Amino acid sequence: MVPKKPHALLLWMLVCSGGSTEAIEPISTSIAVGMAAALTGFLATYPNIFYYFNECCRPEWISLNKTALVVGIGATLGRTIYNYLHESCEPKWIALNATGLKVDLDRKLFGQHIASRIILKAVSGFMSNDNPKKPLVLSLHGWTGTGKNFVSQLIADNVYKEGMDSSFVHIFTSELHFPHASQLETYKSQLQQWIKGNVTNCAHSMFIFDEMDKMHPGLIDSIKPYLDYYDKLDGVSYRKAIFIFLSNAGGESITQTALDFWKAGRDREEIELRDLETLLSLAVFNNKKSGLWHTSLIDKNLVDFFVPFLPLEYRHVVQCAMAEMIVRGHQPNPSVADQVARDVVYFPKTERVFSVKGCKTIESKLDYYL
Ligand SMILES: Nc1ncnc2c1ncn2[C@@H]1O[C@H](COP(=O)(O)OP(=O)(O)OP(=O)(O)O)[C@@H](O)[C@H]1O
Ligand SMILES: [Mg+2]
Repeated sequence: MVPKKPHALLLWMLVCSGGSTEAIEPISTSIAVGMAAALTGFLATYPNIFYYFNECCRPEWISLNKTALVVGIGATLGRTIYNYLHESCEPKWIALNATGLKVDLDRKLFGQHIASRIILKAVSGFMSNDNPKKPLVLSLHGWTGTGKNFVSQLIADNVYKEGMDSSFVHIFTSELHFPHASQLETYKSQLQQWIKGNVTNCAHSMFIFDEMDKMHPGLIDSIKPYLDYYDKLDGVSYRKAIFIFLSNAGGESITQTALDFWKAGRDREEIELRDLETLLSLAVFNNKKSGLWHTSLIDKNLVDFFVPFLPLEYRHVVQCAMAEMIVRGHQPNPSVADQVARDVVYFPKTERVFSVKGCKTIESKLDYYL
């Protein structure tokens, strides 16, 4: 909660008491008024100091303090400090670090040239638009362990100072949060209230829906209005929010395309979005298990970007192992990374090109070798 402001009252009391003490010599009165002004100024900035250490979203509360601040420490100084603090709140906690995101995608995400490019463009374009027409909706698809959750974390790290720990980043997992189909109606209203409450609290909220393909179609339908081109819904604007859907839907057709390129002796980096886009939407539409196909998310164009994640090869597993050693503070050891990668299972059985679990088990496997 935003602390209430006792300082206007305090200033009034101090000034009034100063006015009734005519017997006090001028120098004391000046000191008293000066102290009152300083104290008022301090208290007026107290919430700023509070929000310096505690995450905040928007600095609306400053408008309430403005008068006390200006009266307390003089119009010019007050205005300067107000402007400084006004600007220091949001950028401190929520602001895209586009360079940071690019560097992270280039250095930390392996084997995902298409996803990397789309995500950088989508997030940078959206965050630099002061007046987006709709929230940003990304749908990340691909084989297990290829980096979908990992990328969501990289986005969060470069938008929110607190990263995934930010109180403005929310993750839903179908099987954890919405396990019982019989409670669909309850889930629907809970989810709607949750989204509304969080966006009311912070327009720049981010919602990650994991295992989207296991989510009940009715539940996906219930969040549709928030993804659409509405100026406001019940007085709340959702246009600055980010929604990220994660699923394995379409993973098989993405893998098939990657395998076709591999068999044709073509470079993986030659795969382009257009090679996957149609396949992906067909696979998502036709997948009876996937909640997405039921809904009009796709045909109403509410998803801004379908982001394909390619299956990972041996060399990517090696990169993951090397990265994990660095994260743990070890000297990266190529022969250990090689051993780890050799221990991983690859498919298809004959060609053994792609890691069955992507880079998912590398972290725990590494324990055996270090
Ligand atoms: N492309 C990648 N580049 C770098 N690291 C990766 C990549 N893919 C996976 N990893 C590593 O493996 C871990 C597990 O990956 P992640 O959870 O992102 O997979 P996922 O695509 O969400 O899989 P699933 O579909 O099973 O949920 C990550 O935390 C990261 O350390
Ligand atoms: Mg995942």
